[in-house]
Amino acid sequence: MLDTVEGVREALAGEGYIADERLATTVFLQTRLDKPLLIEGPAGVGKTELAKALAAATGRRLLRLQCYEGQDETKALYEWDYGKQLLYTQILREKIGQLVADAADLDEAVDRIGKQESVFFSDRFLASRPLLEAVRSEEPVVLLIDEIDRADEALEAVLLELLGEYQVSVPEIGTFKAKYAPYVVLTSNNTRDLAAALKRRCLHMFLDYPSSERELEIVRSKDTGLTEALAAQLVDVVRGLRDLDLRKAPSISETIDWARTLAVLGVDELSAKVLSDTVSVVVKYDKDVRKALDALPRLVDPNAKVPAVLHNNHDHGHDHAHDLGHDHGAHAHSHDTPQDQEPEPDGKAVRQAKDKPGRFTNGYYGTPSSTASLGRRRPF
Ligand SMILES: Nc1ncnc2c1ncn2[C@@H]1O[C@H](COP(=O)(O)OP(=O)(O)OP(=O)(O)O)[C@@H](O)[C@H]1O
Ligand SMILES: [Mg+2]
Repeated sequence: MLDTVEGVREALAGEGYIADERLATTVFLQTRLDKPLLIEGPAGVGKTELAKALAAATGRRLLRLQCYEGQDETKALYEWDYGKQLLYTQILREKIGQLVADAADLDEAVDRIGKQESVFFSDRFLASRPLLEAVRSEEPVVLLIDEIDRADEALEAVLLELLGEYQVSVPEIGTFKAKYAPYVVLTSNNTRDLAAALKRRCLHMFLDYPSSERELEIVRSKDTGLTEALAAQLVDVVRGLRDLDLRKAPSISETIDWARTLAVLGVDELSAKVLSDTVSVVVKYDKDVRKALDALPRLVDPNAKVPAVLHNNHDHGHDHAHDLGHDHGAHAHSHDTPQDQEPEPDGKAVRQAKDKPGRFTNGYYGTPSSTASLGRRRPF
């Protein structure tokens, strides 16, 4: 099934995941080269979903490690089941007592107990966490290490042995090696640089917002109830919003939510009014909402020269910076501020420029130009 790039694309599509050629090729290579796959990219572009779809498409069990700050290896690899160890020593108190009953002194008693240590640090008392579980599994699995950039760098070091050799060493017992190489998918929102040692062990892919065709295909696959023509128009509007330099750009899941919202409202024409009334489905910060409201008329119809009327519309029902009671004169005046006089970027040209292949090679993590500014990066 995963024998060809096309096969991978179809298998993922069968699980409702729409992959483009580049992503399908990367996943194909991952399965062929038995290498972990590190996916970086903004929120909501389908990083986590890919691992889920891969597990569903291959019938493999999905093991998931959700990373967070302060997480240590006892939550990622394994820990000793202290409670169980204690319980056993209590139950076996008499037996342990017999062992040391005729010891000449304390030293000898401790020696004798020490010789039995391996009983308590054995498989029986080992509590596997997702990474060890993936290695010990009797069946092939997909291991999702989600949002690795949230974890501390120490955890990355812990991962290296697993990612490089699909094995985990437990000093008291030995080394566990995976029977079947797991498909490992790591995701990152790029809130900080990841260690080069980790990157080196993985196939790397930057997953960005999709092309309009693919986004439309995704929306279509979700049965949102919105007509094809409106969905296509909506996808263009969302892409326009992404060009606005918002604090949080709308993701694919927000496009889907917006399409569902509009379908529920029975909308049969995308007007700036109806989009403004529902814009909080896709932009979640007050400042972003204001920027979006200002841009929507232009995004719905780039040739429309009716900002005053439409602008007035979106004042209703929205938390908006302008006074609700302003008249058109005052409103026109507000458009005279220096900020509003900035030449409007040609959204379409900006988007087209963004669609050029290889645009992430400049200034993106790992390239010479960006290594000069190490340290914590701004999250997406
Ligand atoms: N290629 C795709 N095909 C189908 N649905 C998709 C695709 N990409 C994204 N989606 C939809 O977008 C939603 C969000 O995707 P997902 O949770 O994987 O994002 P993410 O990249 O992991 O985001 P975050 O960084 O916030 O965790 C999914 O639930 C899914 O409905
Ligand atoms: Mg995710």
